[in-house]
Amino acid sequence: MSLLITRGLVVDPARNLEQELDLLLENGKIAALEPSGAIPRKGRRVVKADGLVVAPGLIDMHVHLREPGEEYKETIETGARAAVRGGFTGVACMPNTRPVNDSSSVTRFILDQAKEAGLARVYPVAAISVGSHGENLSEYGDLKAAGAVALSDDGRPVMNPLLMRRALEYAKTFDLPLLLHCEDLNLRADGVMHEGRVSLELGLKGIPAAAEEVMVFRDLELARLTRGRVHIMHVSTRGSVALIRRAKAQGLKVTAETAPHYFTLTEEAVRGYNTNAKVNPPLRTAADLVAIKEGLRDGTLDAIASDHAPHGPLEKDVEFSEAAFGLIGLETSLGLNLKLVHEGVISLMQAVALLSTHPARILGVPGGTLAVGAPADVTLIDLNREWTVDVNTFASKSRNCPFDGWTLKGRAVMTIVGGKIVSSEQ
Ligand code: DOR
Repeated sequence: MSLLITRGLVVDPARNLEQELDLLLENGKIAALEPSGAIPRKGRRVVKADGLVVAPGLIDMHVHLREPGEEYKETIETGARAAVRGGFTGVACMPNTRPVNDSSSVTRFILDQAKEAGLARVYPVAAISVGSHGENLSEYGDLKAAGAVALSDDGRPVMNPLLMRRALEYAKTFDLPLLLHCEDLNLRADGVMHEGRVSLELGLKGIPAAAEEVMVFRDLELARLTRGRVHIMHVSTRGSVALIRRAKAQGLKVTAETAPHYFTLTEEAVRGYNTNAKVNPPLRTAADLVAIKEGLRDGTLDAIASDHAPHGPLEKDVEFSEAAFGLIGLETSLGLNLKLVHEGVISLMQAVALLSTHPARILGVPGGTLAVGAPADVTLIDLNREWTVDVNTFASKSRNCPFDGWTLKGRAVMTIVGGKIVSSEQ
């Protein structure tokens, strides 16, 4: 099987390459990259990419696929389909399923289901602690052997700092990154949105920015103590960006991600008690949004991940204070991220690094580059295609998206995994 992608703008941040080239995919790998016309077309399937960006397959390093246990919200298959529609060739799925992915059997089950679906690559993230209860560490060696690429108790923080220290030391032995949900549960209390003027006006209980920041600070100090590696997830506040920037300047082994909703929406989106804008960490202020953009621009934030968190009407068509936290993002992520490129906040090369090269490096998975020999995972992007978000067309099983009706500029028009076209609008 041989696929030739012609005359696209090849963007490969791993080699600082941005050039019109032809790309040959053969036997599941990148086989050649040459000036247009140099690779013979005869006997090959040709995909014309004139005017399109040819990027290494995008990787969403933070999604919730809900299987096993909550298949009415999403399955590995529907989530993987939403992923490839959104341009993602790989996703890392969080362990807060039912049961929690704290065992090799759940990890293997996820990999089996993903293989059966045959769409995006699915990278299981296993739990830091048994049941994500924050009491006992899970078996990192077994989990890695079964195929887990990282560890996280996402959805919950590891509240006990001693357990977090041990997790950092233990994970180092297996070179597994720790993906951290930074939140002090005592400080968050029963808050449901950002604590500020809007929460006051709406009469809703608030979650202060400090609930995130004190935990970011703690985890950075534990990284310093253990010389361990930490990845801070879903950064939402100006203070967190500043802490991470300082830690990087001091040479700590820290990486961080944010999500599109933290640079496109603020606490104002909650007005009208819109439960689709209820997410944890919560949507913050305009000043936080500016700081997140600056963090993306200057490299403090390494990755953008959707935190795709499907929920059904059961969890969302209820009073705001009772609703579940979370919004879906796999099918809007790229379009929202490209807003940053169109606005001139980041370059196209930076966008591809944030969405592919850096996530691959942080997770230690193949891909993130179009170098010869890399997996033939490729996303073709039309930067200028305008489209309107319509949740009813989504491949995801869920509809909890606050961007419904938005007009976005730019989308994936073809997604290729291992040399196979798994989604195409051409
Ligand atoms: O909004 C959120 N939803 N934040 C989390 O940390 C978990 C996630 C979920 O699983 O629904």
